[in-house]
Order: sequence, then structure tokens, then C-alpha cells
Amino acid sequence: MDMNTDFSNDVLSSDERAIMRLRTLYRQFGYTQYKMSRFEEYGLYAENKAFLASGDIITFTGAGGKLMALRPDVTLSIVKNTKDDGSLKKLYYNENIYRPDGREFKEQMQVGLECIGGIDINLMGEVIMLAQMSLKVLGKRSRLDVSHMGYISGVLHSGKLSPAQRVELLRCISEKNVPELDLLCREYDLDNAFCERITTLAALYGPYDEIVTELRRISVNEETSAALEELDGLYSVLRKLNADCEINFDFSIVNDLSYYSGVIFQGYIEGIPAKVVSGGRYDKLLRKFGKRSGAVGFAVYLDLLERLSPVNEMINVALPKGRLGDKAYAIFEAAGYGCPEIHGDSRRLMFDSPENGVRFFWVKPSDVAIYVERGAADIGIAGKDILLEYSPDVYELLDFGIGKCRMCVAAERGFTPDDCNTRSLRVATKFQNIARSYYEKQGREIDIIGLNGSIELAPLLGLSDVIVDIVETGKTLLENNMEPIETIVDISARLVSNKVSYKFNYEAISRLCRKIATSLT
Ligand code: PRP
Repeated sequence: MDMNTDFSNDVLSSDERAIMRLRTLYRQFGYTQYKMSRFEEYGLYAENKAFLASGDIITFTGAGGKLMALRPDVTLSIVKNTKDDGSLKKLYYNENIYRPDGREFKEQMQVGLECIGGIDINLMGEVIMLAQMSLKVLGKRSRLDVSHMGYISGVLHSGKLSPAQRVELLRCISEKNVPELDLLCREYDLDNAFCERITTLAALYGPYDEIVTELRRISVNEETSAALEELDGLYSVLRKLNADCEINFDFSIVNDLSYYSGVIFQGYIEGIPAKVVSGGRYDKLLRKFGKRSGAVGFAVYLDLLERLSPVNEMINVALPKGRLGDKAYAIFEAAGYGCPEIHGDSRRLMFDSPENGVRFFWVKPSDVAIYVERGAADIGIAGKDILLEYSPDVYELLDFGIGKCRMCVAAERGFTPDDCNTRSLRVATKFQNIARSYYEKQGREIDIIGLNGSIELAPLLGLSDVIVDIVETGKTLLENNMEPIETIVDISARLVSNKVSYKFNYEAISRLCRKIATSLT
């Protein structure tokens, strides 16, 4: 089969050529095209928001006053419109979808395929192989990583957890955040065996034959053994289909547990800082539509091809300018990643250490997470305050234990929050998301006043009742006749990594983390 059938460069743009190649590929495997309208009733999406990448949807009023939506997704329409008659449907699509991209909505071209009906392990293997072949059509160096929601769910079920605690632990798994998993296990009073199981699962990464021993060792119940059996079967099908395939297993790939129960996967192309393919087994979605069939499929995010950038030869490290960055650099230096030039008295922002394979650059502390999330830096050192405020999609690999402080609610001495029980509490802060989520959990209505600095002035001048801000020594509060009244969370600096860089530079980044962890103890 020739995946690279050529279409004239004059006639088709590179995106269009990619689409044609993908369509040709899917047709060769017996998939037929599914066409749909641009519009659907809004209710379809409103009832399944957790299935969508974002809850933000463009709506309008259609004929007869019905609330309609510009489709943010194709899979839901396919599931809704496909007959549940036991026969196997193999479909592909090539449609524009409408999703938020930053603050604006964007029309994005999406290609994907779905199999609905009786799904066996051979078909699962075929779909994963097609995902992998799709990546090869689009980029030079690609990889596909597989995870299993059943295994993750089994491990979570082995601890006594409230639904909110499950959500928190699942988030930490998706961030490979071993330090926070350790902390939460202690806070939730979970036993050591559970903690060891969940931290091992979050950190695992590699080809199946390298990680399967660990997966067997931490398997704990029927759910995890059933998932393991399926992964064993899938692995042998994949080897038969494509002996030299490079597939890794990574349980930090998580999807919503109420829709996904089995194998899920993501695909990446080197030089593109986010997943390009995303898919998996979503039988639970069909149950929500009262259908008995199984389903598996994936989508290819073609618009991300625009973000392809040259591959870094060194590990790019974003350091926060200022005292915190100096301390962070000292930790790198102690671990054997020094770059003496950095000490020079200059205004240069970028420093290479080719012998250690790293390049450091100084950025504004609050920008570190953006550099890392967008792939301009492979790793970076960011305060937990920034990570909580902006929730960047990054791995949080190490707690550097520096820049320690607390996120607090503070007020003028003598202030009692009960004084304003009859109205919304006025909260001045730089950390609007942290404040909002803190008070939401307490069921307290607030008015947020967003400020950029000198937050302590707000209550003194009657602009707010309280502030949510960082307290380090407590001196600023003391000297302004204020005091902390509640601690929201302890803060320190963390080493974060771009998720895709981590995968393509696994050896280098994990070696660096190991060396730093050793030098920190
Ligand atoms: C931070 C924070 C407090 C102060 C707390 O301000 O916003 O104002 O440090 O430190 P302390 O407890 O040791 O007194 P920053 O220096 O970042 O300046 P800002 O006022 O511009 O936010």
C-alpha cells in the first residue's frame, strides 16, 4: 500500500494533501465517509459536556426557537445517528469543528475515524495501528502512547476515596505529579501500599515489555487484572500487525471516567508541543444513548501542524528571573548541570551548556508555565501559585522545596468575615482562579477585584474586605496592620515539563530529574 500517494503541490495545500492521504489510508482499510451538517441541537452537547474538549460552544436560535450549536465535535453526532443493530460500522470523517482557542473560537479541520458495533481486540489493534500510520503520514518522527482507563480506575478503587478525592488523584496522575500524590495520600489517610501503587502507575513510561512486570506487581483487583489481560492481548495483536511499531505505555494519559473505560491513546509528532491524535474506547458514551454497541475511534488535530517548530538539540530550561531563579539555577548546578557563563554580569537572557545538553533562559516568573506548555521550553521552574492559577497542561515532576510560602486569605486586624454575611465578600487578588475555586468549595459568594500588585492596600482603602495573596515572612501584612486569617495552600517551586517534550526526550529529562532529586536529598 502506498500511503504517500502524491497530489500535485500546485493543486492542493499541504493540509489538503495530508487530508487526502489520511482519507486514502482509511478507505484502504474499509472505512466509509460519514458526512454531517454543521449544526446540531445544543442539547446533544449540553448533556455530554465532559466528553468534549471544552464546554464552550457557539449557539444560536434555529427554526422554531430551538437552541442550536455549531458542532464542537463529530463523534457525538455519529453516536447519536448510528443504528444499534449489531452490525459493525467503520466510518471516517473530515469536517470542520468550532472550538475555543484561547479567548477566541476557531474553525478547525478535524479528520478521524470511529468503529461502532462489536469491537474485538483485533479491531482495537487495527484502530491503534491506523492512528500510528496517520501520524507517520503527518510527521517525520512520531510516537503513540497507550493507557487504560480500566487499569487506572481499578487502582483508584483500591483506596477508599470520595468522588472529589478521586478527581484530585486522577489530576495528579495526569500530571505525573508524584510529590503531590504522596502528599494527598497522607492527607486522605490512605495506606502505604495504595500510595506506592498509585505513584508507580503515574511514573511508569516505556514499551510494554519493559513496564509490564511493574503493572503485574501493582495489579490489585479484578478491574486491574481484566485491563492487564486486554493490554497483553492488544500488545500481541500490535506486534503481529506491525512488528517494528514504537508504542509506549503511559498512564498519565487519562480521559473522563464516565465516558471511557478501556484502552485510550494519544499520538505526538516531534516539534509539535501538544497531542496530535487522541482516541480510545468509549463504550460508556453509547450506554448514555441507550445503545449496546461498543465503540472505538480517534481524531487527528490537523490545525496543530501549523505549530511545528525546529526540534531543540538541547533541553531548554526556563528559569524564573530573580531570587527564586538564582536558587533554582544553583540546584541545577549542584546536580551537574552548571553553565558558568550564567554568572557573568550581562543582560543576556540565554545560556548554552552543550557539554551538559541544556540551555537555560530567564523569563518572567509568571511566564514560565506558558513557555513550557507551548513547548518553547522543554522544562521550567514555576511557583505552585502560578501552576494553580493557570492550570497549564504540563507534567509536574519535582518539588524543588525552594520559594516556600503560603497562599492565604488576609484582612485588617480585627476583621471577621461574618461582618459581611449579608452580602458577597469582596476579595482583592492577583490569583483570581485560586480565590474563586477556594470560595466555591466553601459555598461562599464573592466579588473578585483583580489587581496586579500591592494587594495589601485594597482592604486598607476600603476597596475589598479581604485579600488572597502570598505570605512569605508575613512582614508586609504586619507592617500594614493586617493578618492572615486562613491558609489556602502551601506553595513552593516545582519542576514542570512539556508533556510532548518529556516523551521525545524521556532519557534526558528523566536522568536530569533523578540527578536533581538525588542532590536535593
Ligand atoms: C508578594 C506578595 C506580598 C509579599 C509577601 O509581593 O504579594 O505582597 O510578597 O511577602 P512577605 O510575607 O515576606 O512580606 P511581591 O513582592 O511579589 O510584590 P507585589 O506587591 O507587586 O505583588
